[in-house]
Amino acid sequence: MARLTVNGVVREVDAEPDTPLLWVIREQIGLTGTKYGCGIAQCGACTVHVDGAAVRACSLPLSAIETGQKIVTIEGLAPGMDHPVQQAWAELDVPQCGFCQPGMIMASAALLAQTPRPSEEQIRAEITNICRCGTYNRVLAGIKLAAERGQSG
Ligand code: FES
Ligand code: FES
Repeated sequence: MARLTVNGVVREVDAEPDTPLLWVIREQIGLTGTKYGCGIAQCGACTVHVDGAAVRACSLPLSAIETGQKIVTIEGLAPGMDHPVQQAWAELDVPQCGFCQPGMIMASAALLAQTPRPSEEQIRAEITNICRCGTYNRVLAGIKLAAERGQSG
């Protein structure tokens, strides 16, 4: 048994220590917004926050989570789904099929939390998530819009 704090709720989970956090989140806790893409830390579809940092949950074993660390998934990013990144995404119609987008949004939110006004170079360097639909230009525009809003708000 392990105890995790996910989206502000303490959860008891029963999984082997080497179980990837992604599967604990999806199958044990039932939060399926976090997606499985590659399973080898390459695509970013499984991105969640651990103490505010973007991590790829498919490649993080349950045993790597320390007691008290705060895990946030796309379901818990903002209560009304109104995080500046989510608002910008909706305004610019960023998603296409949508599969990669929870990970894109979580990675983008973590970037802006750390670097509120990133340069385009920083965005390109930090957001390495893969989108098979090719939404990269809209992701870039969405991050810039969210950054502007964050600054003015
Ligand atoms: S599923 Fe985790 S990085 Fe691709
Ligand atoms: S929107 Fe389809 S994979 Fe990114």
